Amino acid sequence: MAFQQRVFSGVQPSGNLHLGNYLGAIKRFVEMQADYDCLYCVVDMHAITVWQDPVELKRCIREVTAAFLAAGIDPTKHIVFNQSQVSGHAELAWVFNCVARLGWLNRMTQFKEKAGKDRENASVGLYAYPNLMAADILLYRATHVPVGEDQKQHLELTRDIAQKFNNDFSPSIAELGLGDAFFPQPEPLIGGPAARVMSLRDGSKKMSKSDPSDNSRINLTDDADAIASKVRKAKTDPEPLPSDVEGLKPRPEAENLVGIYAALADTTKDKVLADFGGGQFSTFKSALVDLAVARLGPIGSEMKRLVADPGYIDGVLRDGASRARVLADETMGHVKDIVGFVR
Ligand code: TRP
Repeated sequence: MAFQQRVFSGVQPSGNLHLGNYLGAIKRFVEMQADYDCLYCVVDMHAITVWQDPVELKRCIREVTAAFLAAGIDPTKHIVFNQSQVSGHAELAWVFNCVARLGWLNRMTQFKEKAGKDRENASVGLYAYPNLMAADILLYRATHVPVGEDQKQHLELTRDIAQKFNNDFSPSIAELGLGDAFFPQPEPLIGGPAARVMSLRDGSKKMSKSDPSDNSRINLTDDADAIASKVRKAKTDPEPLPSDVEGLKPRPEAENLVGIYAALADTTKDKVLADFGGGQFSTFKSALVDLAVARLGPIGSEMKRLVADPGYIDGVLRDGASRARVLADETMGHVKDIVGFVR
């Protein structure tokens, strides 16, 4: 069976969205619409693997949806929805809980980081999180998954689960006339111009919603003044900008700001340095403020406009969920037959 080229990706509704989410994920989601059928999912079931305040969770689900729309994702040509509205995610995740091995999950580095020292007290959901992620992707038999570097291991696990399912049930799959591979091997699409946006206060740490300093990140809803002040305060070093990317290597803060500029301007770090190399940071930062305000300002104000109309957002999500459900139900029907459930 030939698999249709289909993109699936997810963003967790936990905490405010920032420039790292935009350049690392959402901006690429927008670009991929031209080449693929895309499903973009607000993964609320992943979010509750760690405690979320219910009122805040609702707000965040709508905010992520607003960001998708404000950035230019077209919910009529593609599918935008939240995970919990399509029950197939939970159903397929259970089947995958029975396919994946404890040994596989024990190797997941993100669980170890997130669970920290008190592993006994982590939720079972946090441990099984990668199986739910595999279910998200394979429920739609997606072939391409744009993700950050930190999700690469989860994508590898998804491929292992797909393969083990195909192998374990190969006689049943053949018997049902579903070909020799029911699930595809989804390809991670990692990289892009700024796959890793770092903290504005420390070039060795990722920009993060949980950093205690708000000056470490540019939030998508920051206004022009906030953007300007955060860029001006961004940590740099006393040297002028280097003339080529080689010169950025030992200078993480300079590398990060040049990377952000290049990503926002849809160009390369080399081209940015051709313009600003040898110059002072103050000149470069002024240009970066103008660029960031020009690119992010309209997204932030559109997000605010959309968030003020939750009825509209909820309608978009309901419509997306009902279209996602058609695809999900088809896969789940086959999965139930393959596994041997009566329906
Ligand atoms: N785990 C991803 C993250 O934290 C979010 C996610 C959930 C996802 N399901 C997905 C990403 C499926 C891609 C495909 O960033």
